[in-house]
Amino acid sequence: MSFDRSIKIAPSILASDFANFGAEIEAVEAQGADWIHVDVMDGHFVPNITFGPETCKAIRPHIKGVMDVHLMIAPVDPYIEAFAASGADIITAHAEAGPHIHRTLQAIRGAGAKAGLALNPGTPVEAVDYLLDMVDLICVMTVNPGFGGQKFIQSQIAKVEALRAKVGDRPIHIEIDGGVTPVTAPLVAAAGADVLVAGSAVFGGGSVADPAPYGENIRAIRDAATAAQS
Ligand code: DX5
Ligand code: ZN
Repeated sequence: MSFDRSIKIAPSILASDFANFGAEIEAVEAQGADWIHVDVMDGHFVPNITFGPETCKAIRPHIKGVMDVHLMIAPVDPYIEAFAASGADIITAHAEAGPHIHRTLQAIRGAGAKAGLALNPGTPVEAVDYLLDMVDLICVMTVNPGFGGQKFIQSQIAKVEALRAKVGDRPIHIEIDGGVTPVTAPLVAAAGADVLVAGSAVFGGGSVADPAPYGENIRAIRDAATAAQS
């Protein structure tokens, strides 16, 4: 994985057909997806349950690009090896998931994956201080994690701006997760984001049988964001 700040669209399979992940991933990549975002939920850290490392391992061969695994689980550390072994390129853990995020990030890199740090909407941007040399990606949650299809939280735009200033020239991706649409994407791109996760705004209106809307949706988000990128 080489680093650049061009806009990358990362469809979340949370909004795809759970009985057909392989075909959904292949369809959305053929339609222009850059990364595939995989939302892991445990019914404890967040009030919803999705799937675990075995599912990640099963879908890995269907992903040509980057497998971006977002862990909304607590505890995190006991499962890092399994998610790394499943073939995740990036493993993102939440700052709020436990008392030892520093150790968690060390463990992710130690397992051979890129390390991501996610911040809930109520978590201040200062949570990244002292961790900037340990992360490859910072994910700003623009909804409260747990469900797709929620409304974008506008107050997070200022957080993205502050984060962009803190990151400076470091090779750290700034990812946005939640409520990304062609309307909200330019706001966060202008503030400094380069990776845009989108679930409902990518998968809405299309299907494996009729994938063209996936491409139109991805293009609409990418074009709006690229035009606004700072
Ligand atoms: C929310 C997940 C998101 C979610 C985004 O907890 O982390 O990745 O799928 O869905 P949309 O794009 O529909 O807000
Ligand atoms: Zn996510």
